[in-house]
Amino acid sequence: MKIKALNGFKDIVPGEVELWQKVENTARDIFSRFNFSEIRMPILEKTDLFARSIGEATDIVEKEMYTFVDKQITMRPEATASLLRAYIQHGLHVQKPVQRLFTIGPMFRHERPQKGRLRQFHQMDVEVLGTPNPKVDAEIMAMGAMLLEELGVTVSLEMNSLGCPVCRPGFRATLLAFIEDRKEALCDDCARRSKTNPLRVLDCKNSKCREQVEEAPSILEHLCDDCDEHFSAVQNGLQQLGVKYSLNKFMVRGLDYYTRTTFEFITENLGAQAAVGAGGRYDGLVEKLGGPKVPGIGFALGIERLVLLLQLQEEEADSSIVDIFVAGLGEKASKFAFPLVHTLRKKGLQMAMDHEGRSLKSQMKQANKVNSRYVLIIGENELEQGQAVLRNMETQEQQDIAINSDDNNNNKMVSLLLGLTQLYANNNK
Ligand code: HAM
Repeated sequence: MKIKALNGFKDIVPGEVELWQKVENTARDIFSRFNFSEIRMPILEKTDLFARSIGEATDIVEKEMYTFVDKQITMRPEATASLLRAYIQHGLHVQKPVQRLFTIGPMFRHERPQKGRLRQFHQMDVEVLGTPNPKVDAEIMAMGAMLLEELGVTVSLEMNSLGCPVCRPGFRATLLAFIEDRKEALCDDCARRSKTNPLRVLDCKNSKCREQVEEAPSILEHLCDDCDEHFSAVQNGLQQLGVKYSLNKFMVRGLDYYTRTTFEFITENLGAQAAVGAGGRYDGLVEKLGGPKVPGIGFALGIERLVLLLQLQEEEADSSIVDIFVAGLGEKASKFAFPLVHTLRKKGLQMAMDHEGRSLKSQMKQANKVNSRYVLIIGENELEQGQAVLRNMETQEQQDIAINSDDNNNNKMVSLLLGLTQLYANNNK
């Protein structure tokens, strides 16, 4: 029996690996323009590092970590905690008051695999440690946006502020009171979460929960003066740098360490896995992990999702538009279509046809795949009756095209040809 890779674990083979190199090389180039240095950490860490930083009551720590239970060690589910551990361990704050670090590598989460969601996935992670300055928040979001733009990936930047230990408890209480009245209507996860982490109810994907929280209070209206000022300054910075963003009061993030600014780069092209990258500020985390009182902010981009987006772009570019796909049904019609396609190519049209005698349904699928503007359907009966059907694939309109009733294939073709080329010229004037 053949042994295959584990579910959710993927080989990156030639043909695809070039896109990975493009993503990583572009990132390295941009990170160096913003004065970031590389750091590499081990994949295994003490379990406690992740429990303490990401949070005991998060999905990641509760159910997604690959942990060797007997040794109390875990394969890193993200890079921030490990990077901070290394920062503290090597006293990097002493070397430079503000450290700008990046790392690229595999992370592990036991999630249900689907398109854009793997169990071993790769992040390009950046962190700035040592400054609470809102300009830095704007600067690193601008860096993410620049990287995505240089890769040619279209995303939108969504942003929120999660406040700080001064203002969040007040908001939490207000939100709890709001949720209390709607508890019955929430999904099981949210009913449970509302006790441990009520903010998570805000970003539940379940449509029932979404309906319930639509009118929920916004944390942005409950920020303390310092957080409010900070968030305004972040927005000013983004405007100065010409970075477009929108506010999303429902964004909470699935990791507990965030304070103040949080953000996500969102794509519309990957279905449920819409976040290409995400991050935020975590001002208390270094201290919580036993380090100095140093604020921090960072984000991570998922390489698999970026590569998927680049592949989609390549597919679009490859699928050059065909003018007419000729669907011949049956042997006689195919025989008739073969020289017709050739002659129309000679006349300068981009043509395609099926040579394998497939069904009409399958030929229509092929026509869609090659983005054909028209499909000319020639059936055996139609051929006998001197008719073919031309379907406009954009409007779905169909029209009959006369084929000369003469038995001679060449004559039939001539009148059909005339009809098609004239029609084509008219439509593309
Ligand atoms: P995160 O939102 O958990 O944040 O992950 C960041 C990005 O990693 C996601 O936006 C996505 O592109 C990618 N990603 C996450 N899980 C998977 C998966 N199962 N399969 C494929 N891609 C995935 C963090 O990890 C934070 N450490 C980000 C950060 C850095 N915050 C501050 N600094």
